[in-house]
Amino acid sequence: MSRLSEAFSLKGLELKNRIVMPPMCQYSVTAKDGIPNEWHYIHYVSRAVGGTGLIIIEMTNVEPDGRITDQCLGLWSDEHVPPFARIIRECQKHGAKVAIQIAHAGRKAQDANPPVAPSALAFDSSYKLPRALDTEEVRTMVHQFREAVRRAVAAGVDTVELHGAHGYLIHEFHSPSLNKREDEYGDDPALFGVEVIRAVKEVMPPGMPLIMRISAVEYMDGGYGLEYMIRIAARYKEAGVDIFHVSTGGEGPVGKERQPSYSPGYQVGMARGIKEALQVPVIAVGVLEEPSLAEQVLESGATDLVAVGRGMLRDPYWASHALLSLSGENGKEAHVPRPYKRAY
Ligand SMILES: Cc1cc2nc3c(=O)[nH]c(=O)nc-3n(C[C@H](O)[C@H](O)[C@H](O)COP(=O)(O)O)c2cc1C
Repeated sequence: MSRLSEAFSLKGLELKNRIVMPPMCQYSVTAKDGIPNEWHYIHYVSRAVGGTGLIIIEMTNVEPDGRITDQCLGLWSDEHVPPFARIIRECQKHGAKVAIQIAHAGRKAQDANPPVAPSALAFDSSYKLPRALDTEEVRTMVHQFREAVRRAVAAGVDTVELHGAHGYLIHEFHSPSLNKREDEYGDDPALFGVEVIRAVKEVMPPGMPLIMRISAVEYMDGGYGLEYMIRIAARYKEAGVDIFHVSTGGEGPVGKERQPSYSPGYQVGMARGIKEALQVPVIAVGVLEEPSLAEQVLESGATDLVAVGRGMLRDPYWASHALLSLSGENGKEAHVPRPYKRAY
């Protein structure tokens, strides 16, 4: 039996295998008013049919101006709940568990006028200059995260992922280069994330684990390294995060000091670093679509779960195909939907 095909459980979450579809924005198919449409339905349900253990629905934002573009998803009103619920229910029928990635794009909200951020610092000269949130607005933002997660739970998710990576709002707060505030949210750069975690935990059922996506290192010159992120993640764990989904970068233009290699498994070492330092389950991601590599990474103990993004865009049945290739089975076993078995 392959490691990828092993079940995983944490608190009330039980996954049938260790394969995760990471969040991937579908904005070119234009979600109107942040509401998922038939594309999103087919897109996610296909990956459930394709054998994925955990599907994390793409970046879904807490307010209209928190979207990267006006075509992105949101959960800022109760009217958004039924279309998400329909997708989630159908994915679950095929044995997948489902999360939604809850986010605010901060200074990377391209259609906001102006975008907001911890401090008035632009991503680069091609981006708009953001407006710094005042202290009261930061507290309102915490409440908006709570409300969006309450709606995700109402839509039937099995778990929730907070987007604390890629230079979006939560990451902007804990990044020393992007947070130059003089209030309590500047004195303690982890405070915003900690308050968001505590607030969303209040509206999640006690047995539901909380995932947080983080950028383990920054790539802009002067950006933070892994040791710094471990200290911040320790605070997030203490506040209630159960699983870290370990990505990197996205906070600004890549500098000269540290650069991503984009080679197979290039972020795995950082997932292991977070896992070992904090004794917490992690999801590794980043060029892991070669099944034998995904298997080896699990085998090495570096990670608990493996996420495959672009590989799943190319092949909605990536999970079934990977499990088949690793087990040497001919499709008569469990990994292929019954009506398709004659094709294998
Ligand atoms: C089309 C596309 C959209 C993405 N959107 C998101 C997103 O909404 N949230 C996020 O955290 N990462 C996003 N990512 C990053 C992926 O989740 C993943 O970390 C990245 O593609 C690396 O994994 P891979 O090498 O398996 O593709 C996106 C990636 C792609 C290709």
